[in-house]
Amino acid sequence: MIMHVTRRRGRPLLRQQQRSQSKSKAFFITVIVAVCSSLIAFYYFALTVVLFSYPVPNDSSLPSLKMAGKIDEGEQNVSDYAGWRQLVVNLARLPPASLLQTLQTEDPFGVREMEQKILQAEENLDASGGNALNNPRLLEGLFSCPTDRITLPDQRNHTLAAQLRRQLADAQTIPTDNSSMAFIFFQHLRKAGGTNFCTLAQANLPTAHVPSYYCMPDYYWKRKDSKGSHRPQACAGCLQQWSNEEILSNMRGRSHWIAGNEWDRFDATRYFELPAVFVTSFRRPLHRALSQFRFECVEDRGCKYKNITAWWEHRRDLYNVYTATFSDTPRMGRLALSQSSKDMEQGAQALGNALDTLLRYHLVLNMEWLAYAGKLVQSVLGFRDTSVLTRRVRPLISQHARQDGQDHNSGARGIAKASWLPEDYLSPQQYLVMSENLALDELLTDAAQRIFLERVVCHMDDHERR
Ligand SMILES: *[C@@H]1O[C@H](CO)[C@@H](O)[C@H](O)[C@H]1NC(C)=O
Ligand SMILES: *[C@@H]1O[C@H](CO)[C@@H](O)[C@H](O)[C@H]1NC(C)=O
Ligand SMILES: *[C@@H]1O[C@H](CO)[C@@H](O)[C@H](O)[C@H]1NC(C)=O
Ligand SMILES: *[C@@H]1O[C@H](CO)[C@@H](O)[C@H](O)[C@H]1NC(C)=O
Repeated sequence: MIMHVTRRRGRPLLRQQQRSQSKSKAFFITVIVAVCSSLIAFYYFALTVVLFSYPVPNDSSLPSLKMAGKIDEGEQNVSDYAGWRQLVVNLARLPPASLLQTLQTEDPFGVREMEQKILQAEENLDASGGNALNNPRLLEGLFSCPTDRITLPDQRNHTLAAQLRRQLADAQTIPTDNSSMAFIFFQHLRKAGGTNFCTLAQANLPTAHVPSYYCMPDYYWKRKDSKGSHRPQACAGCLQQWSNEEILSNMRGRSHWIAGNEWDRFDATRYFELPAVFVTSFRRPLHRALSQFRFECVEDRGCKYKNITAWWEHRRDLYNVYTATFSDTPRMGRLALSQSSKDMEQGAQALGNALDTLLRYHLVLNMEWLAYAGKLVQSVLGFRDTSVLTRRVRPLISQHARQDGQDHNSGARGIAKASWLPEDYLSPQQYLVMSENLALDELLTDAAQRIFLERVVCHMDDHERR
């Protein structure tokens, strides 16, 4: 930027000097040099003011953008969570277009390169008559446990996960002590693998412990109204309206072992005080948004829009919705559209908070890579039957059966084939708009994928650490 400014100001000055060799023009030159020098000085002054008041990170404040094993000597070390968090918040301060560009070209988390490698490996296996899903170690072969780990130090409460696993192991023989049970808190991001996770829970938890309405126990909860009569709530999967005490007494009273929270943000200031094992599932943000449009609007489930541009303009609540969810930030849509440095800083801080929350989650899944999550799910939750992870499950499928031949999830490629591709479906203009409105979520999703990968390939180390 500075080089550019210098050249633009410097060139006319040089030309002036070359043209006026004669002494008669010396006075002129002096004046011009003086004027131009003042201009340059003023420019630098203005530039300094802009640079220091606007929180765009310079190169040296961005720690290593390379994955483990590729860190150049002399570069700053991103060896653990503190370093990663700083990197992530600095990236989040970039204007959306630059952020997307950086994620695309620098791939700070190494996950984009991994996605390509996975797709390639699946394709190679297919070509040789193999099946990626019979190769659960495919991921381990492509990604080795790095030294710069975003998942260290481990911030999860392992006591609670161990409690859940014990409960599950004992379920057949010992009646559960409801007063000390742990449960799964599933933060359900819409259209990002949530129904699949509920089906997985149904296959592994004893039936009596699973709320029958899409793993959302509050569907059955009642609250006294002002007249003293107990009324059911209008919403299922909306846990913000319940205090921790109410959540816990309802869960324990019915001995429910899973609570899905689909419609409300995650309040990290109190939910982590619940005796719960925290689980969520991510999906590439643009795919998720398009899938929601397809599910609700194109397939007629309570949405009147058929034009995605109009729908997207109307649904500001979906802009950076992952970041809003995990940082519990209301009105994220306004921040996503704002270019004021104050709002951009608030967005960056929200992203930092969302990341803090995510690292305390016991299990962070990614819909694209569910097929490779089996062993991790087993070791964290104690589930034994993980076959669901290789099967696609769609909610309310009978309403509108699809014939895309993708009822079996054949790895990352299966998911890619069954989705509408944003690149194909959206106009270039709409693609750009939506991408920028989801830029922070792109960053958070990259981090979530990195968390997943590290935990898959490093989980043996983590067991030893426990
Ligand atoms: C970077 O982190 C790794 C892993 O903790 C450590 O072994 C290495 O010494 C660190 N390097 C520097 C330059 O701090
Ligand atoms: C736990 O709660 C369930 C559901 O309310 C009940 O059926 C069961 O008997 C309770 N178990 C114990 C040990 O109290
Ligand atoms: C983990 O959860 C248990 C049970 O809720 C709690 O007693 C303990 O303090 C927690 N441990 C940490 C490190 O937060
Ligand atoms: C969709 O909506 C946008 C703005 O709301 C409008 O400009 C555009 O023409 C619409 N497209 C179609 C195909 O109707």
